[in-house]
Amino acid sequence: MNPKKLGFGVTWLGHATVLYRTEGGKTILVDPWVDHNPACPEPMKKLPPLDLVLVTHGHGDHFQDCIDVLRRANPDVVCIYEISLYLGSKGFTKLHGINKGGSVTLHGVRVTMVQAVHSSSIVEDDRLIPAGEPCGYVIEFENGVRLYHAGDTAVFGDMKLIGELYRPSIAALPIGDLFTMSPLEAAAAAKLLGVGSVIPIHHSTFPALTGTPQSLRDHLKGTSIEVVELKPGESA
Ligand code: NI
Ligand code: MN
Repeated sequence: MNPKKLGFGVTWLGHATVLYRTEGGKTILVDPWVDHNPACPEPMKKLPPLDLVLVTHGHGDHFQDCIDVLRRANPDVVCIYEISLYLGSKGFTKLHGINKGGSVTLHGVRVTMVQAVHSSSIVEDDRLIPAGEPCGYVIEFENGVRLYHAGDTAVFGDMKLIGELYRPSIAALPIGDLFTMSPLEAAAAAKLLGVGSVIPIHHSTFPALTGTPQSLRDHLKGTSIEVVELKPGESA
């Protein structure tokens, strides 16, 4: 089902950076890679006011612009505990450092941190800083609709458990291959989760990311799972 029919808005800012808008008008930005994101259309780099930023992990293609975005927008931030320590050392205070299995409700939105099979670190001045583990999120909007934003991950069997526990209607899944799932694994993920639709992300940013929404559609043939294909800057 289309996000609008589910009662929320989504804007893909390119790569893995996604802006969600709730029915109540709250804005949630996941992985604020904006200024240095080559896929983000220039006019979209001026962000709307942000209520909430969610960080999935410390890799540059998700986190590089985080500090600048937080300085400009001063949102509440949900991230893994270790990244909250890092951001705390930079002077930020609206931090909610949690861990997998835990939830926090902010601005009427319930955010649950879940597993992701990937790696995580922060690069600062050529130094590598440990950043805890990578994660995904289940976001429950004010209207009770739940979305699973996977972050960077491989497919894993416990996506079935995420589906059973949280019953997400829709999932934002990486499909680009190389650093994350390709469409083959993302189609398996969508089936494990039991979602009705998938928003493909983490694709087409660089030529090396070869997974396409069309390929995901091909792998989902024979199911009723819809692919919500967006171009960078587009909303649904
Ligand atoms: Ni990554
Ligand atoms: Mn990535």
